[in-house]
Amino acid sequence: MPEVHLIQPDGRRVTLDVPVGTSIMQAAVSAGVAGIVAECGGSCMCATCHVYVDETALARLPAMLPTEHEMLECTAAERRPGSRLSCQVKMTEDLAGLSFTLPESQ
Ligand code: FES
Repeated sequence: MPEVHLIQPDGRRVTLDVPVGTSIMQAAVSAGVAGIVAECGGSCMCATCHVYVDETALARLPAMLPTEHEMLECTAAERRPGSRLSCQVKMTEDLAGLSFTLPESQ
């Protein structure tokens, strides 16, 4: 099963095995990772599953839909070029080894 790394703002790292097809948000919540709130349960309506991805890796992620783009204007922490909503990123083999950094607040 491919794995990803979730990095807390203080640098602590959690590595998760994520089944292909499962969202990064679902995997993080299931594992009890602090910092992913996911108030809307993955409906792209809350922006509390915000993560940062290294810009050089963005092309490996699925394309952003307009709804995600709009919700990223509502994040508690600043939006950056590598911002994504983790509920909208489903695991693929291409994402194996990728790191997602959590913002200071959701
Ligand atoms: S869980 Fe609400 S937008 Fe991702």
